[in-house]
Amino acid sequence: MSNTSEVFEDVLSEIEAFSSQAVNFHALQEFSVRTIAENLHHYNWVGFYMLDPEDPETLVLGPFQGAPTEHLRIPVTQGVCGAAVAQGETVIIEDVSSDPRYLACSLETKSEIVVPIRANGNIVGEIDIDSHILDAFGPADQQFLEACAVTFGRFLENTAR
Ligand code: SME
Repeated sequence: MSNTSEVFEDVLSEIEAFSSQAVNFHALQEFSVRTIAENLHHYNWVGFYMLDPEDPETLVLGPFQGAPTEHLRIPVTQGVCGAAVAQGETVIIEDVSSDPRYLACSLETKSEIVVPIRANGNIVGEIDIDSHILDAFGPADQQFLEACAVTFGRFLENTAR
């Protein structure tokens, strides 16, 4: 792996391959957060928040890699995580200290990207990444994570049948 775009391609291929034989969504989530965090060194916290089927106005922390967070449940009206669901699109925060929506997870976090996951056209959750680097996330990160989100959504669509 020599440059970041090759790393993105390789990690996406690994996630796609794993998804074709994963026993369940939890296994795919565990594999994905581990593979993403191990290979992308500016991704210091990588985790899933999924909408609670019993309370679809609330996101629930799923598998993650990185420092433990106190934000186990986030209402969709709060945080950058809530904003991505409310807006129905990827949210990139270049400098978390200047965004009033930001819910602090670690004092070291400087920037964040949150990408919604859709299944059958509906948002079912999201993947959330924090970086210790300011303005760490650009269009290539967004494209990579949105492709991962498509894989997660397809897995859910196929297993829900
Ligand atoms: N920063 C998020 C909260 C989750 S932590 O980053 C793990 C937010 O503002 O919603």
